[in-house]
Parts: sequence; C-alpha cells; structure tokens
Amino acid sequence: MRTQVGIVGAGPAGLMLSHLLHLSGIESVVIENRSRQYVQERVRAGVLEQGSVDLMIETGVGERLKRQGLVHHGVELRFNGRGHRIDFADLTGGKGITIYAQHEVVKDLTDARLAAGGQVIFEVDNVSVHDFDGSATPTIRFRKDGAARQIECDFIAGCDGFHGICRPTIPEGVLTAFERVYPFAWLGILAEVAPSSDELIYANHERGFALHSMRSPQLTRLYLQCAPDECIEEWPDARIWEELHRRFATQVGWKLHEGPIVQKGITEMRSFVVEPMQYGNLFLAGDAAHIVPPTGAKGLNLAVADVRVLARALAEFYSSRSRDLLERYSETCLRRVWKVQRFSWWMTSMLHRFEDDNAFDRRRQLAELDYVTSSRAASQSLAENYVGLPME
Ligand code: APR
Ligand code: PHB
Repeated sequence: MRTQVGIVGAGPAGLMLSHLLHLSGIESVVIENRSRQYVQERVRAGVLEQGSVDLMIETGVGERLKRQGLVHHGVELRFNGRGHRIDFADLTGGKGITIYAQHEVVKDLTDARLAAGGQVIFEVDNVSVHDFDGSATPTIRFRKDGAARQIECDFIAGCDGFHGICRPTIPEGVLTAFERVYPFAWLGILAEVAPSSDELIYANHERGFALHSMRSPQLTRLYLQCAPDECIEEWPDARIWEELHRRFATQVGWKLHEGPIVQKGITEMRSFVVEPMQYGNLFLAGDAAHIVPPTGAKGLNLAVADVRVLARALAEFYSSRSRDLLERYSETCLRRVWKVQRFSWWMTSMLHRFEDDNAFDRRRQLAELDYVTSSRAASQSLAENYVGLPME
C-alpha cells in the first residue's frame, strides 16, 4: 500500500492529523493496534481548551461537541475548607473550557475519516517503522488478520502514545528525554450521579488532593490522590466515598452526591518530554513525545496543538516542496510544550500532598493557593494557561 503520510496510532493525535491532512488534500493511512470499540470506549481525559474546541468546529467535526459539550467559564480551588472561584471569562476576555470526553473526540474523528473515505485500519499487530532517516522510502510494516502488510509513504507520524514503538525506534543518541515521576497517583472513578457542582473543583486537603469533574449532567468523574503502587482492590466503593467526602468537606456544608460507581482506575503521574520531536521523515506527536500529569487537563490539548503544527508543515511541503516548516516542527511545538509542562507541574505541586514536605512546605503551599485566589494577576496567570495558551 502506498500513501503520502503513514500514521501510527488512532488516538486524538493520529486521527486529528489524518483529518487535517485530508482537508489539505493530503492522503494518509492510520493504523491502530486496538479495536475501534476499545479506542472509542476507553475512558480518558475530558477537558478541551478553547483552541481545541474551535479547531473541531472550524474543521467540521464539532457538531456533537456543540450539542453535548458542557461549557465552563470557571473552576473552583478548594482549600482550608473554603472554595474560591477562578473566573475564566472575566480573566481571559470571555474564554472557557468545554467538558467533552476524549473518547467522544476519537469517535467524532473516526466517523469523519471513515465517512470521507479515509483509511483507519484497526486491530493490527507487530507494527514496526523503517527507512525514515531520509535515505530510502519510509515504510510501516504490520500484520492484519495474520497477514504481513506494509505501507510505503513520504512521512511517518508517530502518534502511538507513550508506550508506542515509534519513539524507541529512533536511533540511540538522537533523543534527549526529560522526566519527572511523581510520588503519587490518582484513583479515578466514574459515578452515575448528577455532578455536585456546576464546575470542576480542585481540592487541596491535608489527606491529599481530590478533583470533582464530570462527563455529562448524569455522570460525575472524581479523582483522589493515592499511593503510586496503590492496589485498587483495597478501595471498595464505601472507602472511596468516605475519602472523597473528607477531602471535599467545606465549612458551609457542601454535599457530594453519591451514585453507583461504573468505572474505577489508577492513573500514574508523570512529566516527560523528548527533544527533538522528529528525526528524518519521522515526526512524533502527542503522548508519543510528551506526557503531562493530568492536573492541568492538558494531554489531549497538547496532542491537538502538535498535529496542527505538523499538518500545516506537511501542507507547506506538498504545496511548495519547502521543508522549512517541517524542519522547525519540533522547535515550534516544544516552545508550547514546555510552557504547558511548567503549568501542569505547577498545578500538581500546588495541589498535592508530598509525603516528605514539612510544616514549612505545607504553609507555603497554602500561601500559594491564597495568593492565586486573591491576586488578580496570579488568578489571571492560572486562567490563561487553563483555557489554553495560543496554539502556536
Ligand atoms: N501500533 C499501532 N497503534 C499503537 C501502537 C502500535 N505499536 N502503540 C500504541 N498505539 C495506539 C494506542 O492504542 C492508542 O490508540 O496509539 C494510540 C495513541 O493514542 P493516545 O495514547 O490517546 O495518545 P495521543 O493520540 O497522543 O493523545 C494524547 O491521550 O494519554 C492521553 O490523556 C492523554 O489526552 C491525552 C491523549
Ligand atoms: C477529567 O474530567 O477527567 C479531568 C478533568 C480535569 C483534570 C483532569 C481530568 O485536570
């Protein structure tokens, strides 16, 4: 099989890239090792920045998002038993975020690609990438239904997430990795109950961080800071609710609604970046190149920002044969990636309990929260990062 851009991974990065390329008249094939159903049901992130929403709407994949997405114009930071609202609309000139699950984004993009005759090949295995150093035709090899197949292309996009094969195939010595692993994880649940607040609540509590989020007017998403090696079996539903009640408790008697827990999982917390995000004719995008801890709700949005830059660079290549934007892909993305890394690390540090923190550190953390919620300049800094820095 021959195409212009071979894309490994049908997550938000791979699918959005394929969609944007199609709109520029560039052909691509996406391969994915999971099934279509698995990818479309996997519960992941749920917060879209204004720029990601705008891109979906402008490129014709925003219909369901416009109908079902929940637009929020603020978040609450809760500490010392009190809530403090950060008013995004006021602080950013009317911007907000939209709650819309990542798997819905994936579904919309998959539907759009298939409806336009695009090729998304699910359930492949033994994927490997070859000849991307510029000396031969880049090739992706894989197996589908037991048969060996290959895609020859001009460029390969490694959109295969953090555990994918593209990044590790780049020769040793080319990439530098920057990493921080946090000494805690998140235990996340999905509960069939109406959210207990109209907006997200990020709570700093002496027993650890907690987050109240949602997926719809009937579905609440909740997270608790836990140990990195926490065993999910040790968290029966009653213990989860008890801990959530404690961490969200306020002096004004706010009430957390309980409902049947329909999904439970543990998310590790990591900050990770590789530089550069490209080698020859192989370009990494999204989680394949970087991971952020979920506290800033940025993973999906960073993936979208990367492929927007990549799609534009590829469009320039095919229209003018100039590699200028392609050569600058990594540099362009990394400027934004590092600012988002900083923000995600900062939110994480401000809101979690660190076991080896002493009483001084604890007071300093509370002073930071007090400052962020009482100074307009500091609130504005949080707000402009949360709603999303400019795409490029
Ligand atoms: N071959 C084919 N597909 C692969 C391979 C492989 N060897 N390895 C992984 N994949 C697929 C995964 O099954 C997944 O569907 O690549 C896809 C990568 O998608 P994501 O992990 O969702 O990554 P990305 O598209 O970069 O989106 C970033 O994902 O981790 C979340 O919350 C994070 O929102 C962020 C988003
Ligand atoms: C979520 O709804 O899953 C969510 C929201 C905000 C975050 C992280 C996750 O910071």
